[in-house]
Amino acid sequence: MNDLKERYLSIQKIIRTHDYEYYILDDSKISDQEYDELFRELRQIESENPDWITPESPSQRVGIKPESDFATFKHFQQMLSLANAFNEEDLRNFHDRIVKNLGKAKQIKYFCEPKMDGAAVSLIYEKGILTKGITRGDGTLGEDITSNIRTIRSIPLTLRESVNPFPDLVEVRGEVFISKPNFNALNLKAKQNGDKVFANPRNAAAGSLRQLDPAITSSRPLAFFAHGIGICKGVEFIDLQEIFSVFASWGLPVNNLNKLATSIEDCLKYFKKIESTRDSIPFEIDGVVFKVNELISQNQLGEIARSPRWAIAHKFPAEEVYTEIEKIDFQVGRSGILTPVAKLKTVNVGGVNVSNCTLHNLDELTRLDPRVGDGALIKRAGDVIPKMVKVIPKKQNRGKGVAAPSKCPSCQSPIDFNYQSEWTIIDTKTSNPVKKFSSSYEAKKYLETNQSANLNILEERIESPFIKCSGGNNCPEIFQGKFTHFVSRKAMDIDGLGQEILLTLINKQFIKDFADIYSLKRHRVELEKLERFGEKSVDNLIKSIDKSASVELYRLVFSLGIEEVGETTARNLANIFGSMEAIQESSFEDLIAVPDIGPRVAAKITDYFSNTENIASLKALIPCLSIINPKLNISREDMKFSGLQIAITGKISPMSRDEIKNLLILDGAKVTSSISKKTDYLIAGENAGSKLEKAKSLGVRIIEKGDIDTFINDPKKFI
Ligand code: IVH
Repeated sequence: MNDLKERYLSIQKIIRTHDYEYYILDDSKISDQEYDELFRELRQIESENPDWITPESPSQRVGIKPESDFATFKHFQQMLSLANAFNEEDLRNFHDRIVKNLGKAKQIKYFCEPKMDGAAVSLIYEKGILTKGITRGDGTLGEDITSNIRTIRSIPLTLRESVNPFPDLVEVRGEVFISKPNFNALNLKAKQNGDKVFANPRNAAAGSLRQLDPAITSSRPLAFFAHGIGICKGVEFIDLQEIFSVFASWGLPVNNLNKLATSIEDCLKYFKKIESTRDSIPFEIDGVVFKVNELISQNQLGEIARSPRWAIAHKFPAEEVYTEIEKIDFQVGRSGILTPVAKLKTVNVGGVNVSNCTLHNLDELTRLDPRVGDGALIKRAGDVIPKMVKVIPKKQNRGKGVAAPSKCPSCQSPIDFNYQSEWTIIDTKTSNPVKKFSSSYEAKKYLETNQSANLNILEERIESPFIKCSGGNNCPEIFQGKFTHFVSRKAMDIDGLGQEILLTLINKQFIKDFADIYSLKRHRVELEKLERFGEKSVDNLIKSIDKSASVELYRLVFSLGIEEVGETTARNLANIFGSMEAIQESSFEDLIAVPDIGPRVAAKITDYFSNTENIASLKALIPCLSIINPKLNISREDMKFSGLQIAITGKISPMSRDEIKNLLILDGAKVTSSISKKTDYLIAGENAGSKLEKAKSLGVRIIEKGDIDTFINDPKKFI
């Protein structure tokens, strides 16, 4: 190797060492000038010998070419999210579940870390070289943001050589974030330039990572801490403590507030310590994370609902902020329900600007009794929806109390004051109530299973706190809301039909029903003449409509806007019934066997499909679409539990009965609440009573507490 090449490689190494000392150890050994001088020399050599440059050179952090889009990338191992504990009791329950699962004799150590408020990413290093940086995305699929990740100076482009060999491939999980001082400086600059300011460091970090031009990302003061590992080929670890110490030896940034706790009491102490020093920590955190340290135990505990059973985020209590009520309106949703909403003087609650707050329904209005001009304490419940905790009445000249309107504010139709029924089982001898149900179906079932001459059902009608516009499709808010939902991203995902355009098309009577959207191209000439429409935008709209016509069944079901049918229920309906026809023809009984569908939702679904307007609307829509049905008919026989009838009884943990039921049904089982000769298995949790006795007498196979996990994973073992 010639001398210049040798010098070149040695400068790379020296710069890397300085970067490590500056960004990771926070202990720089040279002046900025000396550093700049080294960099100049590196660049000079590279300009004369461009073929020596490799992507790992410190000069290659910012690529030249902006991306046109981010490619999707499938994580080798799923990126899970964390379940939350909001108080000491939740945390103790978490610990108890773990003790139960791993056995009392085992001493459980927890790795404790601050919960960073940033954006999760996965870094892939192959034999020590950073080859990819991926966003979390939905946990399975992320976006390839490698060129942006490379601009983050605390992320090494190559791992440092240490006594610990590099894996062939490792996914380093962690959080990209912006420190509090850097965030304030960034926002100050944005304000001075008249640019949009960020509501919180998390948005700033996530937004910076999704810039198509890495030069912009490079100008943002992003930092990184590793907090986990995905796939790791070629190196084995024993516990998290070892992983993080090896990460540090490779020059990866690891939070020095992390600590190993040897008991749950230690964890609580850690929480209190971090909470009390929160303000002096230079980055935003919203709680702490506790993780079972040992990897064998983590594996044994496994995961549920995309969260590991071995980790939990203990959140700090939500911040409550004072503001003033400027106005209280009733807003009409697409279901016709009128929701009281308070317009507030804008206030930042836990990093989010809040200017509206739902007051939910008439009961909540009565509880709070808010008036215009009053003060109010706002908190963000579960970190998302702002909640009005308390009204602080204005001392003098307090405004009038808010009464329910008698007419819809949008279409002036009369308001329906809904009544809902409640079914009570009463003991006819004593007239005492035994149990209350919100559906007659459940009440009747109760009577069937608890047959006694003394029990009877009493139906009571109670006033519902939800009021509704009676205008139906004649109410513009309901009508437009239906289409806004239909075209939205999670539904049919049609671009170019924003609120205003939709309204224009509705007013011009181009859109009267869902199917009309698919014949818009016939009106091409008229469309092009409309305000804000040009040839190009009509082209794009038609392309987007055509694309949406090929639709997965669950999306179509969700798009219809059936009351109470959200995305999850729509997915379940699609997975269980497999086709639109089967869903339309399903009976109330079929529906309540679907995970997360109870009698109330089942009734909404049967109502929807027996309404003549809806039937006609679907009849016109379906021929416009090419529906992609789930592949259930081919694989149904191959499903783990297909053909099996299973009942569940007793107290089950850590999964709830419903969670187990969902898993079983999605894998082909028929889950029943009662035991008969047809029952194949009874899953019996703690305190199983008469059902267990009955199962034994009928010779039904019984899955006991300790075997539930194995049964769910591999029922064949129990044949
Ligand atoms: S561990 C399997 N550790 O919180 C556990 N996450 O809801 C996966 N986060 O997406 C995450 N600080 O973005 C972990 N010390 C920490 C964290 C942390 C922040 C974020 C992360 C993740 C979310 C989990």
